[in-house]
This record gives sequence, structure tokens and C-alpha cells, in this order.
Amino acid sequence: MGPFWRSAPLALHLPAHGRGRALAPALERLLRQPPGSWDLPELPGFGGPLEPEGTVAEAQRRAAALLGAERCWFGVNGASGLLQAALLAICPPGSQVLLPRNLHRSLLHGCVLGGLEPLLFDLPSDPITGLWLPLEAQRLERVLAAAVTSGADPVAALVLVDPTYQGLVADLPALVALAHRAGLPVLVDQAHGGGEALAAGADLVVLSVQKSGTGLAQSAALLAQGDRVAPAAIERALLWLQTSSPSALLLASSWAALEHAVSVAGVRQRHRAEARAARLRQRLEALGLPLVANGDPLRLVLATAPLGINGLEADAWLLQRGLIAELPEPGALTFCLGLNPPGGLERRLPRLLQDLCRAIGGEPLPPFTPPPLPLLAAPELPIGVAWRSPAEAVPLERAAGRVAAAPICPYPPGIPLLVPGERIDPARADWLLVQQRLWPGQIADTVSVVVGS
Ligand SMILES: Cc1ncc(COP(=O)(O)O)c(C=O)c1O
Repeated sequence: MGPFWRSAPLALHLPAHGRGRALAPALERLLRQPPGSWDLPELPGFGGPLEPEGTVAEAQRRAAALLGAERCWFGVNGASGLLQAALLAICPPGSQVLLPRNLHRSLLHGCVLGGLEPLLFDLPSDPITGLWLPLEAQRLERVLAAAVTSGADPVAALVLVDPTYQGLVADLPALVALAHRAGLPVLVDQAHGGGEALAAGADLVVLSVQKSGTGLAQSAALLAQGDRVAPAAIERALLWLQTSSPSALLLASSWAALEHAVSVAGVRQRHRAEARAARLRQRLEALGLPLVANGDPLRLVLATAPLGINGLEADAWLLQRGLIAELPEPGALTFCLGLNPPGGLERRLPRLLQDLCRAIGGEPLPPFTPPPLPLLAAPELPIGVAWRSPAEAVPLERAAGRVAAAPICPYPPGIPLLVPGERIDPARADWLLVQQRLWPGQIADTVSVVVGS
């Protein structure tokens, strides 16, 4: 049985079309057709993402032009599938790839599939909320300098996540320029963004069209520009990973949402939503509720730790009262308002958050300790080898010294706290024990380690 709500739930989660309220008009029209009539194969004249001609090819060409890219491929397996294809396109087998510690797990899976070595770089984190903070140029300079001396295998690319799930943004032009100066192509995971990384000079950009646009779940787009990555390499990787029967509905959703976003109606819709969000933010702040400053007006991030509340507990409490948030974390709770926020939002959210504070609030939580990670580290055992090695489960208390055979990865956000192949040193084991208490129900008592490690 699900939770009991006296009124309709206040749904502040993704997809950003808000349970259909903000669907692109073309997609809405399509969905009103007789059910199933839109479920087409790659018919001649319609084609698919890898066909040079047809409706899909034409839509991809127009989407690229609208977003300022040279090429665009729609995806039907979310940003996850396109991130993996992008990774395999830029990184030859055996190469190293620079990945931020706040990477989405799909990129780790891409490393396994492509036989790549993740070179994980540490990021700053906020002691008050525990959130990863955007990468600064000075830190990237140090990372790049360290990467040169990191190992025998060549570094093939830099991957950045921007904006973060919580809408935090870095100075992308500066970061991309530094990577290019070091001779590295840049892939930006903009699952939570709208393609701004192209103007910053990124070579490849992956969008999740349902997270910051109005597409259906799983619709996504890969954008490319410049001559650092050959389109043929991208198409080859897509061929490896993509279904041979891409859903026409999801392809239509990608196109309809991207086109709508830049249309007059789409821009007006976003402005209306952002204006409502800005007024709501002001009202919540006036009530003394601490919100994280971010770059996405449609993501409200409540800093729960200063209120004395773990974000996962806040989420469970609110869920019981009909408010569905998007992303609970130990120090924060993120609400995605979507492109047509639900009616009653302005009345219900402030009241529920005040009730939350009264019911379970208290003294601010102690500051979050950053993970004890070096600036740059590669797993000791190749990730694909470690993940497929004979493994045994050991209590976290006894994990120090062992090599991880599986990730520890609370979901959402899907950011691994431990990567297969990493040796768990005592400081990391202690930190993971703290994390286990901070993510109730999300981290098991045992960790999977490589037998004999
Ligand atoms: C930063 C980031 N990248 C990629 C993804 C994967 O997106 P999708 O679920 O569309 O595959 C997510 C999902 O939450 C994400 O947060």
C-alpha cells in the first residue's frame, strides 16, 4: 500500500513536464492519436537516429541547428545510454578518462563497457549540506597537471557534470578552455541542463530531455561540435549500444521537446514557471527556510541540515503528507518544480515545510566531513575486472584494506561513494560507516569485496 493522501499529491519530481501539464504541444497531439498508432518501426522515409535520411535525420539536423551544435543524435535510453556512447566514441580501449567524483553511475558503466580506466578527480563539497560543489578552474589546473603523471596509459578525455542535479553551475568556458589547452576533448553531462555547454566550447554534450525539458522519460540528445571527435566514431558507438528498434514515440518526444523549448510558446512557458518559482523562493526564504543558491530557478534545494533534519527523513515525512520530492540527500532535499508547476504549490509547499520543521526539526546537524579522497585516483584493479571478480560480502567495519568488487551508490542521485577496484583504506572505511548512518536504508551493512584482496 502506498502512502495515504487526503488530497492529490503535490508532485515535485521529474520528468519536468509535470505529469503531462507541460508537454510540448506537438507531443500532446501525438499522444491523442489512437493508442499505439505512433509506435512505428524505422520505416523508409521515417528512419532512425543512425539513418542519413528520413524524418528522424531531418529532425536531428534541425535540433542541432536550434541548439547551436553541428550534429545531434536522439537517444531512447536516457542520458545514460548517450553518455556511454559518447565515452566509447572519444576514448580508445585501455585509455584513461578524467571523471569527476560526482559522476552519474552510467559513466562508470561506460568505463566497464569500453575497457577504460576512470581517473577520478575530487571536488569541493559544502560542509553545511554535504553537496558536491562545482569544479573551479584552479582545481582543474591541478587535476590536469596531476593527470599527466598519473600512469602509463594516455588520458583520452575530460568529463564534466554541469549543472549538477541540484542546479549548481561551474564556469564552463574556463574549464573547457583549460582542457582544450591540455589537448583533451570535453564531454559535458548536461542531463540537468539545456545545452549551454556548447557555447562554452564543449565537444560533446548529453542532454536528458525529460529533466530540464518537457520530453518523456528516456528521451535524450547527444550534441557534437568541432573536429576533436569524429561523427563516425560517435555513430559507431551508438550502433554498439543502441537498440535496433528505437521507439518512434521517444524520438518524437526528443524532437518535440527540444523544438518547443526554443519556440515562443516554450520560452513563455519557461518564463511563467520561473517567475512563479522566484516568488515561491522569496516566500520560503522570508519564512526563514534555508534554500541553496543555485543556477536553476526551477530546482528548489532545501538545506535540511541547518534545520536539524536529514533530507531522507524529511522526504519520508513529506511523502506521508502527499508531497513527493525529487532528490533526498543527507543534508538537502531537492524539489523539481517542472515547466508548469502544480496548482496549489504556493499554498501547500510553505505550509508543509513549516510543519516539517516544527515536527522533526532541531539543532543544526554537525558539519559534513568531506570524503578522504586524493585529488586524483584510479582504481587499483581495472574496474571491469574488479566488478566481475569472485566477490564476498564483508561487514563495512571489516572492509579496510580490501578492494571493492561493487560500487556503493545511493540512488538517487546515483553518484558512487565507492568504485569497484578501489582499495578501501581505513579512512575511507570510517567515512563509509558515517555515510551509512547518513543514508538510512540506502547503504547495506556489508560491502562486496574481491576475494583474496
Ligand atoms: C547527472 C546525471 N547524468 C545522467 C543521468 C542519467 O539520466 P537518465 O536517467 O535519463 O538516463 C542522471 C540521472 O539522474 C544524472 O543525474
